[in-house]
Amino acid sequence: MSFYNRYILPKLINCGCAASNVSKQRAKIVPLAKGQVLEIGIGTGLNLPFYDTAQVDHLWGLEPAGEMLNQVEDKLRVAALPFEVQLMESMAENILLEDSSIDTIMITYTLCSIPDVALAMSEMKRVLKPDGQLLFCEHGAAPDPGVLKWQNRINPIWKRIGGGCNLNRRIPDLILQGGFEIDKLESMYIPGWKPACFNYWGSASIK
Ligand SMILES: C[S@@+](CC[C@H](N)C(=O)[O-])C[C@H]1O[C@@H](n2cnc3c(N)ncnc32)[C@H](O)[C@@H]1O
Repeated sequence: MSFYNRYILPKLINCGCAASNVSKQRAKIVPLAKGQVLEIGIGTGLNLPFYDTAQVDHLWGLEPAGEMLNQVEDKLRVAALPFEVQLMESMAENILLEDSSIDTIMITYTLCSIPDVALAMSEMKRVLKPDGQLLFCEHGAAPDPGVLKWQNRINPIWKRIGGGCNLNRRIPDLILQGGFEIDKLESMYIPGWKPACFNYWGSASIK
């Protein structure tokens, strides 16, 4: 792994993802999680303060990047959460959990980066209980042709410097193609640079 990916990128991602416009989005979706929760791509643990501690029984934090997980461990040492948090160094394409064992899957700003989204969605569907919920908040393809054109143009270089992040993924389509139905969907540009700031958030369940 390059010096940039190992030491600089995790800090850049932590910084960008902790911005106030993004935190406002987290506050809309993360408190809805309940029961056995699986967070896909927990990153540096920026969602931790937003969980409703009265609703969550257990949090599984899946993350392939060990250097991100180190930052989650630092946060957990000071956070003193009332529920147990178990971290798993793994990819969403291979979730090491039992079938139908999870009440809530939480995914924020991660669908943009997963290499094999179809496989990851099938894994999420497998581990989610039949009456469970997928809660998501993601940036993705903008509805305006002018913005989308720039997203498509910039994407190859953005992906290289952004740890595999894609600007132009059609988030609702990926969820539907994964065998989920969308129960609630909202979208808007959050403040900031438009190509990276069109957000989709809501909930989905198994079809
Ligand atoms: C922009 S960060 C967002 C982190 C966190 N979800 C948040 O909201 O702050 C994208 C995350 O996706 C993770 N990621 C990349 N590929 C993944 C995969 N195949 N499975 C799970 N997570 C992945 C990255 O390691 C990184 O932590």
